Amino acid sequence: MMKSFFLSLLVGLLFSKNYVKPTEIDGKKKWKGEGTTPNLESIVIGRCYEYIRIVNPSIGEKNCTEIWEAFRKAFINKDPCNILPSDYELFINLALHTIPPNKSLFWENNHLLVTSYSDRTRRYMPLCDTLIGSFGDFLNWCGQANDTGFNYDSCPNTEECENNAVESFWKIASITYAKQSSGVIYVMLNGSAIGGAYPVKGFFADYEVPNFQKDRISRIEIWVMDDIGGPDLDSCGRGSVQILEERLKTMGYDITCIDNYK
Ligand SMILES: *[C@@H]1O[C@H](CO)[C@@H](O)[C@H](O)[C@H]1NC(C)=O
Ligand SMILES: *[C@@H]1O[C@H](CO)[C@@H](O)[C@H](O)[C@H]1NC(C)=O
Ligand SMILES: *[C@@H]1O[C@H](CO)[C@@H](O)[C@H](O)[C@H]1NC(C)=O
Ligand SMILES: *[C@@H]1O[C@H](CO)[C@@H](O)[C@H](O)[C@H]1NC(C)=O
Repeated sequence: MMKSFFLSLLVGLLFSKNYVKPTEIDGKKKWKGEGTTPNLESIVIGRCYEYIRIVNPSIGEKNCTEIWEAFRKAFINKDPCNILPSDYELFINLALHTIPPNKSLFWENNHLLVTSYSDRTRRYMPLCDTLIGSFGDFLNWCGQANDTGFNYDSCPNTEECENNAVESFWKIASITYAKQSSGVIYVMLNGSAIGGAYPVKGFFADYEVPNFQKDRISRIEIWVMDDIGGPDLDSCGRGSVQILEERLKTMGYDITCIDNYK
């Protein structure tokens, strides 16, 4: 008796109009990824002004409002699983500035170490220290179809769909950065990373290496950094680092590899 009461309650609940499927809230799709970073607009516009006025004023005239609008229009009011790198083209064109020769620093699996090495463009200018990169660094964002707002609740992750707003942003940002890099190119890898210092599938391998402009690059210097007290899983001439060295040599580059560069 009790059992069938609960059963009919459950069935009633499932078929009632008010029942909210776990994947939907107020008719909005619920994704597995984190939602848009709160205050995205003020964070990004603040970073843009800081960048053009303090960090790197030599890049000249830039209109942060206009750049923000172009960034927003790339993904707002669209299916969040159908955002292509080319949707950011106007944003890229507006935010683009030169990367001085010998200042490009590519990396995988060591974001915070890169940030401390670059000294905010004074020593190196990794992608996250360019105006383009500053729009995305440590932030998350997406919109939704037929809605001019951001989805603060959730965003699709890469497993749900590769053509999401964040992934497509970093693809075009990486391609652009690699194309602009010149002189001595630095690559910082994590020798303690599980799965290898050089991920054979990753932004560096898939979007940066293929877009290097060979005639503008004098040589490539790879640094393999082990965590202090961490395991030495990969090093120059070994494991995945060797795969990278071979790949770059085959492409005709002059390579140096240094373990634990200081
Ligand atoms: C910057 O761009 C915005 C939006 O496109 C525009 O309204 C504004 O006049 C521009 N500001 C300057 C100083 O050009
Ligand atoms: C870049 O580095 C190379 C080799 O160290 C050096 O010859 C060249 O002058 C440097 N270029 C600039 C613009 O600093
Ligand atoms: C290097 O990779 C290890 C293992 O994934 C990680 O714990 C560590 O934080 C990484 N080091 C840096 C500097 O990011
Ligand atoms: C968005 O609006 C268009 C046109 O009104 C409609 O065809 C489409 O199904 C809508 N998409 C979603 C996800 O609601």
